[in-house]
Formats: sequence, C-alpha cells, structure tokens
Amino acid sequence: MTLIGPGQTIGILGGGQLGRMLALEAKRMGYRVITLDPEPESPCGQVADAQIVAPYDDLEAVRQLGRAADVLTYEFENVSATSVRALEAEGRRVHPSSAVLAITQHRLREKTFVASLGIGVPAFRAVASVEDVERAAREIGFPAVLKAVSGGYDGKGQIVVRTLEEAREAFGRLTAHARGSPTEGPPMIWEQWVSFAKEVSMIGVRDERGTLVTYPLVENTHVNNILDTSLVPARVSPRVEEEARQIVRAIGEHLRIVGVYCVEMFLREDRLLVNEIAPRPHNSGHYTLDACMVSQFENHVRAICGLPIVAPLLRSPAVMVNLLGDGRGHRLMGVERILEDPRVRVHLYGKKEARPGRKMGHLTVLAENVDEALDLARRARGQLQWG
Ligand SMILES: Nc1ncnc2c1ncn2[C@@H]1O[C@H](COP(=O)(O)OP(=O)(O)O)[C@@H](O)[C@H]1O
Ligand SMILES: [Mg+2]
Repeated sequence: MTLIGPGQTIGILGGGQLGRMLALEAKRMGYRVITLDPEPESPCGQVADAQIVAPYDDLEAVRQLGRAADVLTYEFENVSATSVRALEAEGRRVHPSSAVLAITQHRLREKTFVASLGIGVPAFRAVASVEDVERAAREIGFPAVLKAVSGGYDGKGQIVVRTLEEAREAFGRLTAHARGSPTEGPPMIWEQWVSFAKEVSMIGVRDERGTLVTYPLVENTHVNNILDTSLVPARVSPRVEEEARQIVRAIGEHLRIVGVYCVEMFLREDRLLVNEIAPRPHNSGHYTLDACMVSQFENHVRAICGLPIVAPLLRSPAVMVNLLGDGRGHRLMGVERILEDPRVRVHLYGKKEARPGRKMGHLTVLAENVDEALDLARRARGQLQWG
C-alpha cells in the first residue's frame, strides 16, 4: 500500500458540506484538496485549493480531476458510478471503489446484498409493473413505501402508501421520475413500512490492510425524512450496540470498503433491520468533529491515504441538530447568543441560499449526559432564525 502523504493532493467528487468538512480536516493535516462540483464556489470549493466546475458525469472533467489528484474519493453516493469507473480504468486510486458504489447506490442491489449476509432488512420486492405492485401488496401488505432504486436522498424519490389505489398512483409518479435517470432492471422497490422503536446508525472505517474500526452507535430522529437530531451514545442496551457493531463489521468486510461508511438501521423491539449503507462520511457522524479525538473525516483521509486508522475515543456525550433553511431569509441570526455557552459549537456550510429544507449547517452540543445535551441543543436552535 503506497502512502499518500501530506503535501499530496486529494480529489473529491462532489462539493457539498461533507466534502467541505472532509477538505477542512485534510487541509489541517497538510494535504492539498481539489473538488469537482457543478455549482461554482460550492461549500467544498470555498475551502479547497481548487474547484473544477462541471457536472459529476462530465467524463472529461472527471479525468481532469483524476490527473490533478494523487487519490480520489466522493462525498455523496449519487455521483455516477460510470465516472468512478472511468477513473479506475485510467489507473487512478479511488476509494471506496466503483464496485462498492454500484451496490450502495442501488436500493435493490443493496438490500439483496445485506440480506445475503443473513442480516435483517425490511421485507422488500422489486417492482417493474402494476402487477408487481399488486403482488407486493398481497405478499407484504400495508403500510409500505415505494422507493426509486436510485437517485434518492433526504426522502426524495420515495412515497409512503396505505392503500392499493395510493400504491398504483405512486407507481405512476415514480415511473415518471425514473424516466429522467434510466437504470437497468426494475426501477423501484416496495418496502414494508417498519414501525420502529428507534432509528440508529453506526460509522465504520476500513483500510486497505483490512483493519476495521467503528464509532459508537448513534440514535437519530428524522423530520420530513431528513435527519434532524443525532444523539450519542445511543440509549440502547449493550447487546443491541454489539449486534449493530457486528452488522457494520460484516458489511464493511464483505464489501471490502476502503474509507468511512455509515449503516442506517431500524431498531424494532430488540431486533435491528438495515435501512441503507452510505459509502462516505455521514450526517449522523458530524458530532465526531467535536466529540471524538479523531473525526469521521480525519479517519476517512487516513484510510484513503494509507495512514493508520484509529478507534475513536468519545470525549463526551453529544447531540447534533441540523440547521435547515425555511425560506424566510438567507441570513442566520442569533449565533452571537448561543455562542456564549462553551458547550455549543456552530458549523455552517457557506451555502448562499437557505431554501426550505436545505441543510445549511448544524450545532453540536457536549454535556454530562445525552438528555441534557438534547435539551441544550434544542434551546440553542430555538434561538436561531433565518431572516
Ligand atoms: N421502510 C421504512 N420504514 C419506516 N421508515 C422508513 C422506511 N424507509 C424510510 N423510512 C424513513 O425515511 C427516512 C429516509 O429514508 P431512506 O431510505 O433512508 O432514504 P434517504 O435517506 O436516502 O432519503 C428514513 O431515515 C426513515 O425515517
Ligand atoms: Mg437514509
């Protein structure tokens, strides 16, 4: 394994907030960073040494990124697998590999893979026709959720259905949606709606030698399908946390991932079902910047560059709350009030337009215990407003 050392260049496909936080950690460690994103002055582009402004599937631009970088990675899983394959075909070092991306960016392949390891997933069926919808309704039942197999994020590309009529209608809408990004095979999946007790997630990191470390289990709350709150350590039994760790290890080992990844799970009674795998740093791991000695972003840099990855030391219980735009204005007001408390840290992503539901930043709060941190985080967020 060749070492990519400080002074060398990391190329990041995608210039969003995950790329920004990755770039900030990489810069602190002495690396150069170049990113590719269609939006000029993207969140990552603002802190990187350079940005190529181009669509993610512009192969010429992607190759240009490849020539400029010593190692490449991506910061969101909807970047085209073709782009990553093109880089690999030229002998570039890309982590995680296009093989990992091809599975994790496709819900049907992803669930089939996880189930093949003997790990629980919500009951699901491939759906390509109205007949498939009717069969899934008979075999799995309602409520259910129809999801496009690819291209979705933050709840986009999925529709919850409670009756056959709703399911037929949702099938029509998702079919129209899928036409924009044609894929081979069934365009959507039918998934049983899980009435979970909690949603949890765990970050894993694996390097080329096969060393694998995991972060503590995180408890997540979503609002309108978008992550709202993450709380660590999760309030679950040690047995559940250990089972989650086994699941995360098995997935990382079988995919032979190099880099950081996150496994989202539903906890039902005391059984875990895997919802999805993200082959990249994850929103539910943002707390690691403030609460861990080595963040998810630093461990990602270490893993893809061939530096030692380390098991994180959790310095304190922590709560992260997302800051979303609400359409009322683009300036965040009230930061000066919440910063008086030394337990509160503000992270903003440099996005100019605070469109409703857009992830603009987050707060991390450290406290003696998670309940106190949660209370403080909610109160701090309540003092902020867009105007
Ligand atoms: N089968 C399901 N049962 C219950 N809740 C679900 C199910 N699928 C999705 N959700 C809810 O919607 C959220 C977003 O769905 P997810 O499949 O993770 O898509 P993405 O994060 O890519 O938008 C989940 O975190 C969960 O809160
Ligand atoms: Mg998700």
